[in-house]
Amino acid sequence: MHCIRKITEDLLWVGADDRRLAMFEGVYSVPRGVSYNSYLLLDEKTVLMDTVDRAVEKTFLENVAYGLGGRNLDYVIVHHMEPDHSATLIRLLEKYPEATVICNDKTKKMIEQFFGKTPNALIVKEGEKLSFGKHEFTFYMAPMVHWPEVMISFDSENGVLFSADAFGTFGALNGALFSDEVDFFGEHLAEARRYYTNIVGKYGPQVQAALKKLAPLPIKMIAPLHGFVFREADAISAFIAKYDAWSTYTPERTEVMIAYASIYGNTENAANILACRLRERGIAVDMFDVSVTPASEIVAAAFRASHLVFAAPTYNNGVFVTMEQLLHELAAHNLQKRTVALIENGSWAPSAAKWMREILASCKELNILENDLTVKSALGASDADAFDAFAEALVATVPEKA
Ligand code: FEO
Repeated sequence: MHCIRKITEDLLWVGADDRRLAMFEGVYSVPRGVSYNSYLLLDEKTVLMDTVDRAVEKTFLENVAYGLGGRNLDYVIVHHMEPDHSATLIRLLEKYPEATVICNDKTKKMIEQFFGKTPNALIVKEGEKLSFGKHEFTFYMAPMVHWPEVMISFDSENGVLFSADAFGTFGALNGALFSDEVDFFGEHLAEARRYYTNIVGKYGPQVQAALKKLAPLPIKMIAPLHGFVFREADAISAFIAKYDAWSTYTPERTEVMIAYASIYGNTENAANILACRLRERGIAVDMFDVSVTPASEIVAAAFRASHLVFAAPTYNNGVFVTMEQLLHELAAHNLQKRTVALIENGSWAPSAAKWMREILASCKELNILENDLTVKSALGASDADAFDAFAEALVATVPEKA
């Protein structure tokens, strides 16, 4: 039986949840699942906005058939060709062979690459408008949000922005389609941040370019390809403000994120002592063992915090492997504009700080504090002065609460 939600009188959600997927894109854990959103417009013409992942094909096709209510499908808009949204496109076109694919040039080439088939396509360009009856859509290219072919569209009739991957959130919908049906900013923002920073975080300038295109539009609703639909003005502007911060690499809050790796607990102890010292000074702290917490969560936390402390043992005359991986992830995601402090441990030739500094050298506008803290095996009473100097130098960079 179908499982759909009505968005407006003539717009339906016909997507599906996937709670069996272990790793999104093969790399990001999704313990609360993920939704693949697809939308069906029932105007003089029938228009489907994107398809879904293969995992939910059966539900999706049933939803589309029910939504159409016996009508034919005239168009399917492919905003994004990545297979989590397009894997069922060919199956859909087999079922509705008269449907025309609306896409851009790049998308058409990718359809041919992925499926070895040339669709019956109507190619749209930047700013082009198409009318389906009452509803007129305008198309805007949004390259690298998240692939080069991505486009978004705006329905001027009811102010709906079909935003492709932008404004998506990890997590199954569990029946709640709209962000106002849940405590989005309390309970789901962290998964929206983890989704954004890991999927699109590298492409801040391209996201800024897309936000500038959207700024003049009278948006009343945002309908992304994953997660909740936004229909409240306050929520829409608050979420856009988050995207503005994330894509300009602006910290969301004054906070020290401490990420540490520890083999026998001594580096962890140094990190814990620092956390206590910072808390005593009224400074917010977020803390992760990089060997335990998935990198995607730490990347997201790093995009939130103003200050980052990395603490790691020296290992194979380099930096401990899980910390090395995390730092490469952060550099790959273009993280910038942070204050950074480094703690290294080493029993005979400590050099982890040097290697951490080297990996972070490719990040722009990092203020890496000059004096690293070096732990020789374990902190002892003789290290008190060095620890104090390290901690106070870090505290001195944290703005006082207003
Ligand atoms: Fe949800 Fe870039 O695909």
